[in-house]
Amino acid sequence: MRHIFEKGIDANAPVLVLFHGTGGTERDLLPLAKIVSPTSSVLSVRGNVLENGMPRFFRRLAEGVFDEEDLIFRTNEVYDFLNRAAADYGIPRDSFVAIGYSNGANIAASLLFHYRDAFKGAILHHPMVPLRGIKLPDLSGVSVFIGGGRNDPVCAPDETEELERLLSRAGAEVTVHWENYGHRLSENEVLAAADWFRNHYLAV
Ligand code: MLT
Repeated sequence: MRHIFEKGIDANAPVLVLFHGTGGTERDLLPLAKIVSPTSSVLSVRGNVLENGMPRFFRRLAEGVFDEEDLIFRTNEVYDFLNRAAADYGIPRDSFVAIGYSNGANIAASLLFHYRDAFKGAILHHPMVPLRGIKLPDLSGVSVFIGGGRNDPVCAPDETEELERLLSRAGAEVTVHWENYGHRLSENEVLAAADWFRNHYLAV
């Protein structure tokens, strides 16, 4: 998959894996990574699907209606890519923490729904429930930050809470942070995610 890898100066800090939103590229979230963990290595991926020229991580049939067959195929494709990248770049696979926004948060959530070892943690900005009716793996030991919008027209608060419940029931430790900027990713939300990250992974 098309991607950027930047080696960090602290080999012990979690590796940040970045997933952009619809129409974005692997460059979009690089500034966020610098705010969340400036010393981490960063692996930033571009989605393999194009919707009217806009990169995405999986196909959708309409806004918020996912092509589930493609979602599962792409989830496996990203998972294989992450495993290969860990070997190719000599980075510890068990130290990956995802940061995703919108469509990127949805593919990261789908990876959590399918694999117990996809990530040791995840920052999901404005995610949806990627898939319903499947049994989630045991996610104990995985920490998740969810940034939701009280007035998000793409991901309604109910769905944010449903995602929180599903991940918590699977054993993940979930923190939800609410904003009032619709589907937008505000500076305040990024700073809250950075705080959460420091408390979980950088505290001495
Ligand atoms: C999706 O397709 O993943 C969601 O609708 C969010 C987005 O618009 O990308």
